[in-house]
Amino acid sequence: MKILITGAGGQLAWELAQTASTDKTLVLLGREQLNIADQAAVSAAIAEHQPDAVINAAAYTNVDAAESNREQAIAVNSIGVENLATACVKQQCYLLHVSTDFVFDGSANRPYKPDAIAADPLGVYGLSKLQGEQKLAAIMPNDWAILRTAWVYSAHGNNFVKTMLRLMREKPSLGVIADQIGSPTWAKYLAVACWAAVDKKLQGIHHCTGDGVASWYDFAVAIQELAIARGMLATAVPVAPIPTEAYPTPAQRPSYSVLNNQSLQQALPELQHEHWRSALAKMLDELKQLESKA
Ligand SMILES: NC(=O)c1ccc[n+]([C@@H]2O[C@H](COP(=O)([O-])OP(=O)(O)OC[C@H]3O[C@@H](n4cnc5c(N)ncnc54)[C@H](OP(=O)(O)O)[C@@H]3O)[C@@H](O)[C@H]2O)c1
Repeated sequence: MKILITGAGGQLAWELAQTASTDKTLVLLGREQLNIADQAAVSAAIAEHQPDAVINAAAYTNVDAAESNREQAIAVNSIGVENLATACVKQQCYLLHVSTDFVFDGSANRPYKPDAIAADPLGVYGLSKLQGEQKLAAIMPNDWAILRTAWVYSAHGNNFVKTMLRLMREKPSLGVIADQIGSPTWAKYLAVACWAAVDKKLQGIHHCTGDGVASWYDFAVAIQELAIARGMLATAVPVAPIPTEAYPTPAQRPSYSVLNNQSLQQALPELQHEHWRSALAKMLDELKQLESKA
């Protein structure tokens, strides 16, 4: 099976490359090789490589910058997905796309199911991702799936875990938001789910996050505990829970964006899902190993 992966420089694409089975031939295209916002380039790349499936790991993911770069976020997260969907229909290949918990406004008080109405994202990033989902579903009659994920981290790339480790080394104390609740997701788990989805030609929208829930504060405390236990941090710094208002950002974020993963677990029962804290421990082991080699 030949699989074309966009956004090759990102967290998910890196984990996809790490976890691909040997029966897959990967065509990994970074932004420099394929700008998904460029319709002609997308069409040419799919026609040239003739993949059996495309995994869209490309996205404009800077949630705060999207507020002032609306056009760019829409170009990548909405028009880019439209370009891929159109090319995949023409090529008759399967498209697996990845979306976000930020399509929801966070007003729920129980985990969002995939068919929950996502009508009112709080920011430009969520809106651009929602538009991408809608365009894909309108263009492709079948042979597509969307995995919505959340709070993604990996040993590769930039993410909350690596930012916390850096700040915990540099600062005498930290305040971390305690009133936004979600589910941290190791990109390696998401990648393994993507491969299972491609193998089974999963259809429709599903949710794919780590098990369990946390606030950013809970997540930060766990990062510190697990990093100290591994000798990745020398000492503990005080971490205080703070409200969202104490850390103003350009983009508003959902206060509750826990996703219900049941439909994915039913469709892909072979998928080994685990609590976010044990996945975090495994990621830190991997990061420690990578840092020791660097
Ligand atoms: N990270 C999260 O916390 C999170 C949460 C929920 C959902 N997601 C979704 O999960 C998916 C994977 O995210 P990730 O964490 O792997 O993101 P990431 O690390 O930011 O990777 C995204 C990649 O896409 C590339 N890219 C940006 N614009 C592009 C374009 N026009 N054409 C081609 N490539 C382009 C980026 O390149 P540059 O770096 O050069 O810009 C980057 O290498 C995305 O769909 C994202 O929306 C992520």
